[in-house]
Amino acid sequence: MTVITLSDSTSAQALTTIRDEIGPCLNGDISKKVVEVWSSIPESVRSALITYELGRPFATLPASTCTTMSDTMDNSYSNKTKKSPSSTFSEETLGEFYEKCPITDAQVKLRPLELAPKNVFSFTKENIAETTHIESKSSMTVTTTTKIVTSTRGWRNVFTLPILYDVNLVPQGTIFDVQNPQLFQSTGFHVEGYNRRFAVIDAEVDRIYGAQIQVYFSHWGVELTTCILQGGEPDKRPKAVDHILDSLCAYKLRRREPFLAIGGGVVLDIAGMAACLYRRGVPFVRVPTTLLAIVDASVGVKNGVDYCCGITEETYKNRVGSFYAPSSCLLDTSFMISQDQRNLSNGFGEILKLALVRSSDLFDMLETHGKSLIDSHFSTPATVAQRVIELSIQIMLEELGPNLWEEKLDRCVDYGHTFSKLLEMVPGSDLFHGEAVNVDGFFCVILSYSRGYIGEDTVYRILKCMRSLSLPTSSSDLTEELAWQSCKDAIEHRNGEQRIPLITSIGESICVSDITQDELEHGLELMEIFNAKET
Ligand SMILES: NC(=O)c1ccc[n+]([C@@H]2O[C@H](COP(=O)([O-])OP(=O)(O)OC[C@H]3O[C@@H](n4cnc5c(N)ncnc54)[C@H](O)[C@@H]3O)[C@@H](O)[C@H]2O)c1
Ligand SMILES: [Zn+2]
Repeated sequence: MTVITLSDSTSAQALTTIRDEIGPCLNGDISKKVVEVWSSIPESVRSALITYELGRPFATLPASTCTTMSDTMDNSYSNKTKKSPSSTFSEETLGEFYEKCPITDAQVKLRPLELAPKNVFSFTKENIAETTHIESKSSMTVTTTTKIVTSTRGWRNVFTLPILYDVNLVPQGTIFDVQNPQLFQSTGFHVEGYNRRFAVIDAEVDRIYGAQIQVYFSHWGVELTTCILQGGEPDKRPKAVDHILDSLCAYKLRRREPFLAIGGGVVLDIAGMAACLYRRGVPFVRVPTTLLAIVDASVGVKNGVDYCCGITEETYKNRVGSFYAPSSCLLDTSFMISQDQRNLSNGFGEILKLALVRSSDLFDMLETHGKSLIDSHFSTPATVAQRVIELSIQIMLEELGPNLWEEKLDRCVDYGHTFSKLLEMVPGSDLFHGEAVNVDGFFCVILSYSRGYIGEDTVYRILKCMRSLSLPTSSSDLTEELAWQSCKDAIEHRNGEQRIPLITSIGESICVSDITQDELEHGLELMEIFNAKET
């Protein structure tokens, strides 16, 4: 650390004179007086001033200049490393470079390490802090500038995880067909004839498809060990993760052996978390069995469980989890044949959300064919069914793909996920996830309308479509208090701003952060009025 103090009053006075004189002649020659005054300042103070003045634009100067200047500072670490006799490489060959820390503004010098030059760097960080003290003494002003240069050092590890997973469309109805090897092959090849596999399966799926699953794996010469979990939100808790972890320990899963997760969004979210935790990460394959999981929960990299806080005693939706990619996903839309209509409608909650924020084409399809798709267990009209699934997944991946770790918190796919988080967790609430998303989504339609973003016709059009999909558009749990608390929670979750997506037309959205309590109150009144009308 270097402390340069210009406390000598003669020097300070001289400096004041220079500053006064130098201003008017910036575009011309520096006056003789300035040169004279400069010469009158002690050498040590002049050198400190030069260091300070040159230090200010430090970051923007080329590396060679920076190196020279850092030598003039008390940078003991960089000097030592440069002179170290044990050093077998020179700075030139290592390609040392500089950057400015966007948070602290520190000047960072990075130096690649020889054996991992793309990943590991040694660094020195230099922070320059200055304080100026102005004091009036009789007829003169004394300016004292204190500059503190702090130098720290350490290492930086830079590693980008390769994320690559395929979302495979399996020919409809063939996932457990012994002629189709996709499911078997998704768990990897084991050359020495390793013939065991592990699968986490939703209890209802096991009841309906369990026998077929066993026959399938027997055909491929594989003994299948299963861990059965209940679907449904009430069972999406840490103890379900523990249950899988126990089963994995007992099964003795190999480190690179992918296990299967077959079920709806709940089972997939729990299994993903267990996969992320077991031995700090093992591969897993998602096989979604509900509409909601096919278009949403299976395509991204999120997993997690709801968490009951021991202090507040409240249960928070998806509060504990991770971003952890599956090794692949296998999508067979024939699972929807066994889904009841309420669960199918529930899946449409997420599809309609995507339509509202991203695609008027998708909305048109839901408006025209949504009811028929639900009535036919997503089979008629067949071309529309296929198009709806493919378009939804594509939009979802377009939104998630470039922002997998959610660095960007203004996310249109968060539409319907502001108020629904609390709604779903109200004790005794009977709302499914997609239903809660839809109630929230309709409330946001109303907020858009009351802000003048969309007209009354659009509100009615959307309300009619939601009704045709048998999705709820109101809930007695959606009170002003819950809505305001949701906004506060959004600020916590979205790092300081509400960032609530609202639509500006069908298929277009923006994120807003200035929703007021009055606006929510008015919105809830309007919501009731619209809900009371025929469409
Ligand atoms: N990770 C993500 O990115 C993501 C995205 C969206 C939703 N989610 C989560 O997904 C969950 C909701 O998923 P869900 O709607 O699939 O609920 P779910 O998993 O609870 O399944 C709903 C019900 O359907 C049953 N079921 C599953 N497949 C069936 C089938 N083929 N036939 C008959 N019954 C079947 C289940 O046993 C359950 O009772 C929520 O917890 C939500 O937070 C996660
Ligand atoms: Zn959701």
